[in-house]
Amino acid sequence: MFSQRALAIKESQIREASRYCDRYGALNLAQGLPDFAAPLALKEAAQRAIAADWNQYADPWGLAALRQGLAEKLQRDNGIAANPDTEITVCCGATEGLNLALMALVDPGDRVLIFEPFYENYVPNLATVGGVPVFFPLDTAPIDRERLAAVFAQGLKAVIVNTPSNPTGKVWSREELSWLAELCDRHNVYAITDEIYEHILYSGEHHSLLAWPEMRERTVLVNGFSKTFCVTGWRLGYTVACPALTAAMRRIHDFLTICAPAPLQHAAVVALAFGEEYFTELAHQYRTKRTLLLPALQKCGLNPVPPQGAYYIWADGRAIAADGAAAAEGLAREAGLAVVPGACFTRGDRSPYIRFCFAKKDETLLTAVDRLQEWQATRRPAA
Ligand SMILES: Cc1ncc(COP(=O)(O)O)c(C=O)c1O
Repeated sequence: MFSQRALAIKESQIREASRYCDRYGALNLAQGLPDFAAPLALKEAAQRAIAADWNQYADPWGLAALRQGLAEKLQRDNGIAANPDTEITVCCGATEGLNLALMALVDPGDRVLIFEPFYENYVPNLATVGGVPVFFPLDTAPIDRERLAAVFAQGLKAVIVNTPSNPTGKVWSREELSWLAELCDRHNVYAITDEIYEHILYSGEHHSLLAWPEMRERTVLVNGFSKTFCVTGWRLGYTVACPALTAAMRRIHDFLTICAPAPLQHAAVVALAFGEEYFTELAHQYRTKRTLLLPALQKCGLNPVPPQGAYYIWADGRAIAADGAAAAEGLAREAGLAVVPGACFTRGDRSPYIRFCFAKKDETLLTAVDRLQEWQATRRPAA
């Protein structure tokens, strides 16, 4: 009765973690959403926009002032000169942006490279356009260049790059992106770059593949306001690509969602005008949160990978159970902490990893650390 693509998509395992929260009264370190407030200036700007009756459909391509603000941001932060009229499109979250890029580029049977572990959405998003995922292992170890070149040589339509990455926090270096650009150029491959965590960085620098001259016509940059401005529920994202690709994505976007929420686009213009200190403070706050959680995971023998960016910690659950699903269940039941099993970010069901999210209030993280310490003490009493 239902389409093959509907049947191919499994329910998100992140929701499963929320069920653990209910069942065991666990603290939710699973889903990637902050439990603290969005900036006051932003909330007030949204309230003003609604009061001023910006409540009808916006320009499908995005409010002109917002696209102009984004063009200035792209020039300043990413070294990219983008035309707001023909190259920038505001959409409903980076999620819609990723889907637009895939819908505009991928036909059924086209092969698309995904680095593993990957953000959960990429596989079902690709399934909806009938694309075939090709996986390449990538944690924080240096990329195996020869192996990567061999995968490109077998033929690809596109590659999805997420930097800083969810779940490992890997930040792609300039050198690594240059290899990738060279391979894309040589083998005629498009890149879709998911840069949603660009401002949440602890080491390294953020680089956008779209800034490489050879990638200018073959990259869709996807980004959004969710993470940088703590408004995951506002559903504001954007794509940046050359005019031909943008025109293709805009046609789809217009029939898919028409436009992103109109009053919130007005507020987003205010967000883009925040000064440098906002972004410095954002990275600083997340660095503090990372420092609160990371040592506690190390002490529990979970061998956490110190993230270079984003707000997750990828840890080895084998100190708890052989596979990540059992480790996540065990941690919820015994320590009262809900995390996401690694299988959510990898192929198959057997990943031993688990993912912790630290986009939480400091007090939430301190409670999590207390729970971990208590749990550790009862598991292995001091000699
Ligand atoms: C890597 C990555 N991309 C995209 C998204 C979703 O972004 P948005 O809220 O803008 O749709 C997330 C959310 O967790 C993410 O981790």
